[in-house]
Amino acid sequence: MASSPTPNLIDPFGRTITYLRVSVTDRCDFRCVYCMSENMTFLPKKDLLTLEELDRLCSTFIGQGVTKLRITGGEPLVRRGVMTFFKSISRHLESGALKELTLTTNGSQLKKFARDLASFGVRRINVSLDTLNEEKFAKITRWGRLPQVLDGIDAALSAGIDIKINTVAIKGENEDELEDFVRWCGDRGLSQTFIEVMPMGEMGEENRLDQFWSLKDLRARLAQTWRLKEIALTTGGPANYVELAETGQKIGFITPLSHNFCESCNRVRVTCTGHLFQCLGQEIETDLRQVLRDNPDDDTALISAIKAAIDKKPRGHDFDYSRQKIAGEMSRHMSHTGG
Ligand code: GTP
Ligand code: 5AD
Ligand code: SF4
Repeated sequence: MASSPTPNLIDPFGRTITYLRVSVTDRCDFRCVYCMSENMTFLPKKDLLTLEELDRLCSTFIGQGVTKLRITGGEPLVRRGVMTFFKSISRHLESGALKELTLTTNGSQLKKFARDLASFGVRRINVSLDTLNEEKFAKITRWGRLPQVLDGIDAALSAGIDIKINTVAIKGENEDELEDFVRWCGDRGLSQTFIEVMPMGEMGEENRLDQFWSLKDLRARLAQTWRLKEIALTTGGPANYVELAETGQKIGFITPLSHNFCESCNRVRVTCTGHLFQCLGQEIETDLRQVLRDNPDDDTALISAIKAAIDKKPRGHDFDYSRQKIAGEMSRHMSHTGG
């Protein structure tokens, strides 16, 4: 099997970019309270990259040393024809250039797509799930129904796909079920990552300071029930992991607010309109769609534009909830950049 191309994308701080997150749609069948407002305006179809353009863009990044590709949204599985894209991009797994093809999903469409995803080489996925209580689930996601997601998780496990549950720590919302939730994951062999609420996008009546539950606190609570062993596991993502000594299950913590992981950042993200965001927590962006469309038969300009964008990657984000006000807040929603 051929190996990956030499890494070519190195930013001004010496960080090599090997992880690309690509959002294939800004749409979602849920309206999570920390992610979207209830009335979102979505992009017209002509603004989106076509599936062929997405393939070309991802393939170009892979040619420059990207080895991990995560498909995101909105909800990636609501994009029409998205299986065609997975099928086509899986050729890079077969060639050995790509080490991991994965996605972050809300789980609602997994029952339908899990087998196809497995057949296209997806081995591990992240499913966003913040509560196991049906009523709370309906409240947090506004439009979602829990049983549909649980069926999706079962379908993915049956298809042989490993699952990591992403749980946003929400004050007063999922605090009371922490231990039960961790046990539930352990019983099913799922790892779980907790995430601090980040200040992304206007949300209407909700207030993020009220939602913020520090993972320092959450971790201290876990330590009252289990012995937490620090482990060196790295998935190439931003989480720090511990293992529960009693059960062996892995728990991750993504702490953009109370701890900064930007020093080891290895990723950039591209939106469904082909805009590259150098950092989740900064406004800087680069329009790759124009370059793609202006140069349909030659990737030279596209490669130069990608390299120029990486040359401008900032050192890190500035999220801060200290002193009862929010700093570093982003005007765009998480669904815009896919997290
Ligand atoms: P693994 O491959 O399992 O490590 O996944 P991941 O954590 O890279 O991806 P996932 O889509 O599950 O993202 C989990 C959370 O981490 C999301 O809320 C992302 O927004 C957040 N996240 C990922 N990368 C960054 C980053 O560079 N900066 C910040 N602030 N958050 C990030
Ligand atoms: N803060 C933290 N996490 C968020 N997500 C969406 N919006 C936010 C936010 N404001 C999470 C989702 C999903 C991941 C991609 O991002 O729950 O797991
Ligand atoms: Fe949809 Fe995910 Fe945003 Fe929830 S967090 S509204 S599931 S994109």
